[in-house]
Amino acid sequence: MSAIPDTSNSTDTSNSVQGRVVIVTGGGTGIGRAYAKHFAANGAIPVIAEINGQAGSSVAAEIKADGGRAFAVQTDVTDEESVAETIARAMEEFGRIDVLLNNAAIFSTINRSRFEDISREDWTKVLDVNVIGSWICSKLVVPHMEAGGYGRIINISSSTVPVGLPLLMHYVTSKAAVMGMTRCLATELGERGITCNAILPGMTESEVEYVGRTEASFGAVLGMQKLKRIEQADDLVGMALFLASPASGFMTGQSLLVDGGMAYS
Ligand SMILES: NC(=O)c1ccc[n+]([C@@H]2O[C@H](COP(=O)([O-])OP(=O)(O)OC[C@H]3O[C@@H](n4cnc5c(N)ncnc54)[C@H](O)[C@@H]3O)[C@@H](O)[C@H]2O)c1
Repeated sequence: MSAIPDTSNSTDTSNSVQGRVVIVTGGGTGIGRAYAKHFAANGAIPVIAEINGQAGSSVAAEIKADGGRAFAVQTDVTDEESVAETIARAMEEFGRIDVLLNNAAIFSTINRSRFEDISREDWTKVLDVNVIGSWICSKLVVPHMEAGGYGRIINISSSTVPVGLPLLMHYVTSKAAVMGMTRCLATELGERGITCNAILPGMTESEVEYVGRTEASFGAVLGMQKLKRIEQADDLVGMALFLASPASGFMTGQSLLVDGGMAYS
């Protein structure tokens, strides 16, 4: 692979992700699958780090069938050894890691209930994947980003945070923590030339079935959105590409709503 210039401290305004190696956690289904496919279509190489090995491999196969490059490694983001192994394999294969998209989360399968009824077990599981998993992936990729001279960490939070959506307190709390983590990473990584920003998606449809979603919930969200259609996974791709590219190089610590104008930050 041709060398990629150091753009961490430059005035490069390109919005290209050509040749970038991008770890997409949870890239086997839903919005993560859309990120992986679109990054590949834009010339990047997604490393699909997905706990559902079969789903990850099938996204990689789809990308290859479309003429793109991709690499899938079954990964549990809560398991430091598993993440280290994925990173080692990506480094062996491509020799660099440019972007980390911390997308994996407990979401489509989450148990919704009033806050008094959330089990301790559900709290632990959600915080472990949504928060600690992002921390583990971030700390293990940073040395490789530094060595490669380019680094973008993109965290996925949620517009449920500014809204304070009911019945999902464990999830909303985890996504608020992701916003805090984004600022701390931005602060600690700034002098090392690595940026960290977060995307806050609205209520988004994908090929996945979301447990507990009702017609009424779509109606309520459409009522709040300025743009009157239901958000699709592809609506989130543009912001992710921008945050991964040199064009966003002087922007860090930000949490950006991409939700059809539902909430204000
Ligand atoms: N869909 C929405 O409306 C919406 C709204 C706001 C934010 N988000 C966020 O966007 C991201 C993607 O959401 P989605 O709608 O595709 O949800 P999803 O539940 O379909 O996708 C989550 C993915 O993460 C994977 N995963 C779960 N645990 C993992 C682990 N331990 N290690 C590795 N992979 C693991 C799952 O297998 C799945 O492929 C999540 O961070 C979610 O919180 C989604």
